[in-house]
Amino acid sequence: MTTLFEPGRIGSMTLPNRLIRSATAERMADPDGRPRPELKALYSELARGGVGLIITGHLYVHPSGKAHPEMTGIHTDDLMPGLTALADAIHQAGGRIAAQINHGGMQCSRQTVAQTMAPSAIDAPFLRRAARAMTAGEISMVIEAFAQAARRAQEAGFDAVQIHGAHGYLVNQFLSPFTNQRDDAWGGDTDGSDAVPGRRLRSDPGPGGTRLSAVHQARHDGWGRWRAESRRRRRPGGDA
Ligand SMILES: Cc1cc2nc3c(=O)[nH]c(=O)nc-3n(C[C@H](O)[C@H](O)[C@H](O)COP(=O)(O)O)c2cc1C
Repeated sequence: MTTLFEPGRIGSMTLPNRLIRSATAERMADPDGRPRPELKALYSELARGGVGLIITGHLYVHPSGKAHPEMTGIHTDDLMPGLTALADAIHQAGGRIAAQINHGGMQCSRQTVAQTMAPSAIDAPFLRRAARAMTAGEISMVIEAFAQAARRAQEAGFDAVQIHGAHGYLVNQFLSPFTNQRDDAWGGDTDGSDAVPGRRLRSDPGPGGTRLSAVHQARHDGWGRWRAESRRRRRPGGDA
């Protein structure tokens, strides 16, 4: 217990203690992605209560990756005042803040994205609607959107950036053979950590990390069963 309340370090970032609030989507933004006052109040309360590091709920890096309504954005410089105010409030309370940046890919709500996209065209029962395959140009655009989001986080005074590479969102979709069946430079062997977007994004030298799911290395034969089941359920008379 003594260690828990002692200062710690993650890379070059020093923490007042080892208490970390895991990223939790707060749904406290206006329709344009600007944080509402409740979000600053929540973070301030957490920091005042002794949380050493707050990882924000996932922030969308581009409108095509806005996973759900009321998600906070980090996709345009117009959002800088609100983001800066969040970082300032936590620093005043003695805490640190990391921005979790994300693109929802195939998992964006109908309410936020008209046509979802993914590394490959995906038609799975749990998605409710098919996602189309991204073009190489769109992949480059999204990588640039992640880079710009990281820049904004730094300029707004955030202490670190966490790339959301888990929970079935876009980076996770590139890492998984279930959802990345590309045969260009963005596909291929996705075993381990060499999946392209994750590695390119991790090459950023600033403080930060990537959150990964344990399931992203699921076996290829599972993909075949998944697709067969998906086709069965979408046939007339299927149960979806
Ligand atoms: C409402 C809710 C929203 C969440 N939002 C995010 C998120 O934006 N990003 C993320 O990486 N994890 C998110 N999570 C997962 C949490 O960070 C955490 O891993 C999960 O609640 C398990 O916590 P535990 O290990 O302390 O039980 C969310 C969880 C909940 C319950």
